[in-house]
Order: sequence, then C-alpha cells, then structure tokens
Amino acid sequence: MDLSVKQRIDALRRELEEHNYKYYVLSAPVISDYDFDLKMKELQDLEAQCPEYADPNSPTQRVGSDINKNFEQAEHHYPMLSLSNTYSDEEVTDFYNRVQKGLNEPFDLVCELKYDGTSVSLIYENGELTQAITRGDGTRGDVVTDNARTIRSIPLKLRGTDYPEKFEIRGEILMPWDVFDALNKEREEQEESLFANPRNAASGTLKLQNASLVASRKLDSYFYYLLGEGLPAGTHVENLQHAKSWGFKVSEAVSRCETLDEVFEFIRYWDVERKNLPVATDGIVLKVNSLRQQRNLGFTAKSPRWAIAYKFQAEKALTRLNSVSFQVGRTGSVTPVANLEPVQLSGTLVRRASLHNADIINSLDLYIGDMVYVEKGGEIIPKITGVDKDVRFLLGEKVEFIQKCPECGTPLIREAGEVAYYCPNENACEPQIKGKIEHFVSRKAMDINIGTENIEHFYKAGLLRDVADLYDTKAQDIVSLEGWAEKSARNFLESIRASLKVPFERVLFALGIRYVGETVAKRLANSLHNIDHIMSANIWALMEVDEIGDRIAHSVIRYFKDEKNRKLIERLRTAGVQLAIDEKKLLEKTTKLEGLTFVISGTFSKHSRDEYKVMIEKNGGKNVAAVSSKTDYVLAGENMGPAKLEKAQKLGVKIIDENVFLQMIE
Ligand code: IVH
Repeated sequence: MDLSVKQRIDALRRELEEHNYKYYVLSAPVISDYDFDLKMKELQDLEAQCPEYADPNSPTQRVGSDINKNFEQAEHHYPMLSLSNTYSDEEVTDFYNRVQKGLNEPFDLVCELKYDGTSVSLIYENGELTQAITRGDGTRGDVVTDNARTIRSIPLKLRGTDYPEKFEIRGEILMPWDVFDALNKEREEQEESLFANPRNAASGTLKLQNASLVASRKLDSYFYYLLGEGLPAGTHVENLQHAKSWGFKVSEAVSRCETLDEVFEFIRYWDVERKNLPVATDGIVLKVNSLRQQRNLGFTAKSPRWAIAYKFQAEKALTRLNSVSFQVGRTGSVTPVANLEPVQLSGTLVRRASLHNADIINSLDLYIGDMVYVEKGGEIIPKITGVDKDVRFLLGEKVEFIQKCPECGTPLIREAGEVAYYCPNENACEPQIKGKIEHFVSRKAMDINIGTENIEHFYKAGLLRDVADLYDTKAQDIVSLEGWAEKSARNFLESIRASLKVPFERVLFALGIRYVGETVAKRLANSLHNIDHIMSANIWALMEVDEIGDRIAHSVIRYFKDEKNRKLIERLRTAGVQLAIDEKKLLEKTTKLEGLTFVISGTFSKHSRDEYKVMIEKNGGKNVAAVSSKTDYVLAGENMGPAKLEKAQKLGVKIIDENVFLQMIE
C-alpha cells in the first residue's frame, strides 16, 4: 500500500468536505470555486489511479453516477408518521390543553418551520451515511442513498465525535425557489410539463433514476428529528444543536416556548417572514421539547400526540371567471388559461391564471361567470383551486377543453400517457410557425439577431414561413420593411452568416423537435454524427443513445417522417448550415481498436461514459450494451453493476479501467 497516496487522498477528502460544509451548510465559503475544482480534480485522479481506496462517501461521489436503476425498497426501523394538521389559533390552544392534561406537569414546546419538500430518513453508522430512505407508505420507502449523496448540504461523514454509533435523522429535501424557477423556465422553453411547485420538483428529482441529473438540480435540505438509542441529550432542542454540530443543516428558526403567547408570536412572525426564505414552508410544527414527556404522551395510530402542524393559510382571492383562452405553443401543445376579473393577491394584480390541463378543468367543473378561488402558493403562475358554487346564479357556458386548434382549426390529439393536447398541424399553424422561428434564432440555438416583433413583420410580409426562409432573405427585402434601419439589417444578415458556423448539436436543438432539448441534441449528435444517420435511424438505434427513451425516440422518428421537415433539412443543407459534427473530429479516426467489442459499465472520473463511447467508435471499436462471449473488454468504472461483473468474470472477459483504456488508444 502506498501510504503517501492514501494520506493525500484522505487529506483531500477531509479538506473538500470541510469546504463543502462551509459553502452549503454555513453559506460561508472560504476558497474560490476554481481552487475547489482543482482539489476535486486531484482527488478524482488519485481515486482513479487507486481504485482500492474507493469510498462511497468520498466527496467525488457527490457528482452522482449516470447509471439508471430501479430503487430497492427498505423497511423503516421507526415508521415515518405524519402530523395532524391544524388551521386556527383555537386548534393550537386545544393541542396545548391536551398536552397539559396528558402530562400534568410543566412542559416546554418547540416551534419550528414546517418545510414544504419531500421527507427523507438518513441512517448513519459510525459517523457515515449508510442509507437514505424516502417516506414511501410510512412503513417502507425507496432507498435513494446515491441520490441523497449528491445533495451538498447532507453530510456524508459527520463532524465531531459525540454522535451515537447508529442513529436516524429525518428532514426535508427541498428545491430552493430560484432553482425551481430556473428549472421550470427551462422546461417551458422545451415545452415540457412544468412542476406545479417546489415540493413536486424536489420529490420528482429525488426519485430520478440518474444521480448525476439529481446532482445538477441543486437540492437543499433541513433536518428536524433524531431517532435512535443513546441520543446525546434529553430534549429535542439540544439534540438539534448536536445535529448541527455534526454538520447537518438545522434551521435557525427554532424557538423554545414556555407559553402559548410565545407560540402565537412565533406563528405571526414567521407567517410574514417566511416569504423572504429561499425555500418553501407551509406552516409551523409544534413539538414537546422533553423526550421523556414525548414518550409519556406517545403516538396514535397515525401521528404523535406530542406534536402538531399549524398550516399557514394559502393566499387566496375570490374573483369572477370571465373567459378561458387556449394558447398554442411552438411544438403545438395547447395550454388553457383563465381570464379573470382582475383581483389583488399577495401584492400583485392577477388577471390570468393557469388551468393546467383537461383533467384539471374537468375536476373543477367550471362554468363561465363562476366565482373562483385563485391561489398563489408561491408558484410563478397563480392557479384556480376551486369554485364557490353557492353564488352560481346565472350559469354561463360549461368550460370544456377544446377539440380543435383555436388557431388553425385542426383536430387536437392527445398521446397515450400524456396529459397535454397537441395541434398536429406543425407546419401551417401560425403560433407554431412563429414559435419555431423564435426558438431557432434564440441565443442557445442559432443566435440570429431578430426579435419577436420583426419575426412578426417578416411573417406578415410573407417573407418567413419556416426557418429555412431566414437564409433566403436579401438586404433589399429587409430595408423595405417597416422599422428596419440599415444597421439592424446588417446585424441581422451578419448573424445569419455567422449561424452557418454554429455546431451541429446546436442546429439539431434549434430545429425544435419535441423533447429534443440541448442535452438530448448533444447526445444524438455525438452518437450518430450527422443528420442523415439521425434521419434514417430506427427506434432501436435511437434508444441505444444514452438517456434516450422511447418517448424521445418516437418524437424524433415522427419529426423526420414528415416530408415537409425533410425538405426543410435539404434547404438548410443548401444554405450551408452544419448538419454533421466537425469533420476534423471525424477524421481523427484510427484503427487502434479495430475488431474489438467493448461494454462500458460504471462511472468514470476522467471522461463521461458518452465520451468513452465516442472514443471507442473513433478508434474503430464497437460498443455493445450487454456482456457476452463475443465481448473483448469491459471498460469498468466505479460502482460497476454486480451482474455485469459476475458475467464478465464467468466468461473470462478482460476488465479494464479507464487508465488502461486511455493507454490503449494513446
Ligand atoms: S417532525 C413524527 N418537523 O411534515 C413526526 N416534520 O406532516 C416527525 N415537516 O413528515 C416530523 N417540517 O415531512 C417535522 N420541522 C419539521 C417539519 C416536518 C416539515 C414535514 C415532514 C413530516 C410532515 C408531517
């Protein structure tokens, strides 16, 4: 054993964890991101060189693996119960009186914020995270340990020494508002369904099958409940203090109250102040502080007698539903929007609210003219949550999801398993045409200098019917149009020329194929190299590409089956748009791996799986998914699937790590 390497690995792990704690738990970083990355890179390299020192709780594991998996389930050692909810001061007083009667001795209550995320139970043994389980049905939950490890505020190794040998800690996994807003904005751009609130986004993310995606979603956490033998203190507040010293993120908003008045003061204060927090909260939790008293009070079948939740009133307003409009997006998805009698709600005047989809419209049983409740749960778009049927006098028309496109009259379709309706008239429906052009010219796509208004002008003048028309526009066409100065015309034409250099993966993204966002476009381009391969690929070839499932594959097939889209591609080809990945990259082909078949398994530190796939192909080798007697090598990273390992060993297939592989193609 090379002691000096092991010592360096340990030192780097300690140091990186320390910086991680300062950054994510204390929000007080002491080194630059750049220096942090350098140290992380050094650790990754050392770990790759010495796989014998692998550790699932190393800070390098926080980036997550890109292996897909189904979750195992595990039984909770202590059931994960819920709290009974209260909504008024009277109910809080009732709880207080019940506790007083039950205990018949003085007691303290602890007030905390009720974080609105998804709950998780973490198990620590000898100071290390060993398991993370979701609530599930309260008795059994999904084991999401690898995903939890990517959450930077969750300690993988504890600080200090006074923690019990084995204990459980429960808390809430949260998606901060700013991350939620950015995620939804991105999904809106891709016309993917939006998350209704940060809670759904957090629980959806924690259940993703791909830990590196989880890592990219920047979840946060707060912990509020310790369980186990030999906890350090006899009161809840003190135990929380200990948990904080071990490195857990524990809220500052924890207050020990001796009287009901203090409890109400806490409630009043946080009902207002919570709006300034970076994460969602939906109430207050009251807990008896002494663990002995908690044990005396015990549990009912569903919840503890020593705690309750007080839920904040969602901000609501009652107003009239004037009409419902249906908007058509760039990929044809149809969104229902309620037009309301303007009403004041949490400081803004609300005129429109989302009705989400046909199922929600049906469940609300809405009529035009109804008085409806509008809520702003903190989400960007207010939503209609109910109808006041008692004041339904003059009944207007029943609100029903439309059958035909409001723009072009084409009958709408709803694909199996999807909630959204689509207008299939992709190439002749006005908002779809304009939306596709807007997407094509956007910064992340072709980055062409033309704004929405000018797209409209061009459209009206009959100059723009699809994205290929952009490449046919002439200077003289433009200057004759209203609002175009010579300079902006020159800028526009210059950006058109520059767009011919935009790499293929961005062109593919720019086409606006449903579900083909930036990442998917990159994966398709790297795996299939050019538009002709993509156009002729069958469903299986497309699904071979990493992270492409049948939904995306079908959408790609459908897009290229359309003759109009094929013609469009030909016109873009004539215009000189990049329809293949860089020639030079392709020319770098060698025959070093000719005739050799590889299976890639596990996660790597030097390059991604996709990059290794490209390298194998570029050097003449072949990638296959499953190990068989025809496999020459398994390129194994960390956490290689045990089934693959066993099979490879049984068949005597050579197993190599990334360093050996890189030497092979050097
Ligand atoms: S204590 C035995 N404290 O609310 C109950 N829960 O309806 C232990 N929650 O399952 C839970 N913030 O998901 C507790 N400060 C807090 C909380 C909290 C949010 C969630 C948690 C729990 C649910 C109860």
